[in-house]
Amino acid sequence: MQISFVAPSDISAGAWVVGAGEGGALLPAAVQADKASGGALTRALKVSRFTGKPGQMLEVLAPSSLKASRLLLVGLGKSESLDEKGLETLGAQIAGRLYTAGETLASLEIDVPKGAKVKKAELAAHLAFGARLKSYAFNKYRTKNLDEFEKKLKTVRIVSSDVAAAKKAYAGLDAVADGIFLARDLVNEPPNFLYPEEFARRAKAALSKLGVKVEVLGEAEMKKRGFGALLGVGQGSARESQLVVMQWNGGKRSTKPIALVGKGVCFDSGGLSIKVGAGMQGMKGDMAGAACVTGTLLALATRKAKVNAVGVIGLVENMPDGGAFRPDDVLTSLSGQTIEVLNTDAEGRLVLADALTYTQRRFAPKAVIDLATLTGAIVQTLGFEHAGVFSNNDDLVQHIQAAGRHTGERVWRLPLDPFYDKMIRSKIADMKNIGGGNSGSITAAQFLLRFIEKDTPWAHLDIAGVAWQDGEQKPTIPSWGTGWGVRLLNRLMKEHYEA
Ligand code: BES
Ligand code: MN
Ligand code: ZN
Repeated sequence: MQISFVAPSDISAGAWVVGAGEGGALLPAAVQADKASGGALTRALKVSRFTGKPGQMLEVLAPSSLKASRLLLVGLGKSESLDEKGLETLGAQIAGRLYTAGETLASLEIDVPKGAKVKKAELAAHLAFGARLKSYAFNKYRTKNLDEFEKKLKTVRIVSSDVAAAKKAYAGLDAVADGIFLARDLVNEPPNFLYPEEFARRAKAALSKLGVKVEVLGEAEMKKRGFGALLGVGQGSARESQLVVMQWNGGKRSTKPIALVGKGVCFDSGGLSIKVGAGMQGMKGDMAGAACVTGTLLALATRKAKVNAVGVIGLVENMPDGGAFRPDDVLTSLSGQTIEVLNTDAEGRLVLADALTYTQRRFAPKAVIDLATLTGAIVQTLGFEHAGVFSNNDDLVQHIQAAGRHTGERVWRLPLDPFYDKMIRSKIADMKNIGGGNSGSITAAQFLLRFIEKDTPWAHLDIAGVAWQDGEQKPTIPSWGTGWGVRLLNRLMKEHYEA
């Protein structure tokens, strides 16, 4: 989708999209469109139930005396509640409507309603961002009916009386959309195509050219260093495990980086503790944490963020074969701590354990945030609306929560407590990899906490419920992989860590 920002002028083709406030009052551009069409909008309003609620639409096709193919009146709702994420939803809803219509060109001329808190440039930029997010499609494995799946809306013009400011506000968001699209692509890609080495190649291809330093550790290297937990998980796979380290140094040399650590299980069969058929479907997406980390680095580098960020992703495939790790095995992690494996399907925490140790020892980061599709229990607890967040640092959580509220990628804090830590005591090793039934998301987080050194500020985001959606879809999420977390982390960096 081609997005541009243009100054007001006559609309000579395509859809002319204008706005109305709550109650249906036409905003200035809508009044102008109404006049130019000889009152088509006012007449249409009389015969419709349009009241200007957010996302409501009223369409007039082939309006006489206009060159536009259609007029689309869009409700903005109450002006005081209009915010950035609401505008993104609106942009996506408009694009969605025009996809259905088969429209190829649209001009969005939506004024800032009186009493709204958003500025002109922000309104334009976030409408554009929403429209762009909706343009995502993953059709590379289709061979039939391509025309039906094609999104015809190729050109979106955002009309603004302050083009320069709108462009500036949008530039950073376009980078974020790029990051989200990369994350979605990685999540959507089937596991026979996207295995650890291929993921590493794609990360390198996408990021190196932007100035991100990308290093890849293979199995031999990790074995030498003692990544016993991560390698244990990958042992039953024909594919080689990988650790990818991505450094974006946009900040001052002397400032410690923020570290993002991602679970990258390219396919989770459960291993020898094998999943049942239905539970295994979708497990190509068990690398969504790693995808989010990679996408976030792409966004930061593309917009040249003045921040030092390091992304570390553990890439493995959890498969059962004669060489696979077993329930009852004891693994020695990179930290030196031993882990009794009682269920090979609790593999994500093993991968993260070594990635966390490596990250802290090498980079001594200011803070570590890990993202993982870690537990089915978090889906039971929070569903698809919030990710779970666990942390040893109240400030960090508050910052993450604020970024979540702002972007709409919301998180809900769940507890850590020595009581839960007791649940992962092992009879023969330092810990076991499952807690035994209840509070599964919390015991998983307690496990990770054991790999946090010297009170490093740390937050763990369990994104199993938000990383993909195949049911009720949000307007800005047209595909299965959501790219969840890129917006949130980008906002967090911007608000708290950028110079
Ligand atoms: N990748 C899964 C978690 C998951 C489940 C993500 C459903 C998305 C949807 C994880 O590796 C896993 O299998 N967790 C087990 C842990 C259990 C064996 C302690 C789970 O949640 O059932
Ligand atoms: Mn698993
Ligand atoms: Zn998993």
